[in-house]
Amino acid sequence: MKQYAVIGSPIEHSKSPQLHTAGFEEMEIDAKFEAIEVDPEYLGSWIEKDFRPYLQGCAVTIPHKTEILKYVDTLSDAAIKIGAVNTLYWDQGKIIGTNTDGVGALRAIQSTMPKLEKKKVLILGAGGASRAIIFALQMAGAYVAIWNRTTDKAQQLAEEFEAGFVEEITEEAFGLFDLVINTTSVGLKEWKSVVPSEYWSAEQVAFDIVYDPLETKFLSDAADAGCEYITGDQMLVHQALEQFRIWHGVTLEPEVMGNAFFII
Ligand code: ATR
Repeated sequence: MKQYAVIGSPIEHSKSPQLHTAGFEEMEIDAKFEAIEVDPEYLGSWIEKDFRPYLQGCAVTIPHKTEILKYVDTLSDAAIKIGAVNTLYWDQGKIIGTNTDGVGALRAIQSTMPKLEKKKVLILGAGGASRAIIFALQMAGAYVAIWNRTTDKAQQLAEEFEAGFVEEITEEAFGLFDLVINTTSVGLKEWKSVVPSEYWSAEQVAFDIVYDPLETKFLSDAADAGCEYITGDQMLVHQALEQFRIWHGVTLEPEVMGNAFFII
């Protein structure tokens, strides 16, 4: 039986086991997927003693996504540019570290906005998720601008990715964008948004990576203004679908994992 895992700390709320197990059942793959709590202090020894001898693949989540870079044998171009790894797989006896968050975000967005070339996108936030999304959107030919509460971080990120920089979200500046993405933690288990509700106009698309709750204030305000919107579960599901494709060479129907997301 093949063995896969997701590692993180804390890990008990991870949806990865139920998403991948749904894929195993659908494709009749004889495999097991576990959630494993790995203390940051023991990440290196976990890779050597547990991953190398026993596992065929692994999903990596907070707080290990950056630290893990030093323990893999080879990094994909996406992992290098994003500066984070969320997926380990084997290729010719080597552990490859890659990142499916950007592709996941892109596929989630493209289900509502298929053509991203030359679209103007405002990204709110400058953390790890923001980096993955900027990378993927630029690959798709979108024009990306970044806003962050801590202005210096947005400015640095904009320089690194040759993206635009928005110092302050004014109604006029906000109105220039076709798609607005919240990658900040604002809205997570709270009814708040970094965007004033009156700024939204119907032709814009909203995407929030927060998925608890699924309908955040950010998305609810956009919907009230008549906007189309994309919920955070979509990115999670699509990044897992891409992991599944890497590990098993199979492209699943999104519904297989989409339905599994809602299992409590
Ligand atoms: P992730 O890896 O999920 O992107 P992160 O690296 O912790 O998470 O980044 C969190 C993001 O949420 C940051 O952009 C952070 O802004 P700062 O760089 O100014 O800290 C943003 N954030 C968190 N709380 C916020 C708040 N109350 N208002 C605005 N932005 C906030």
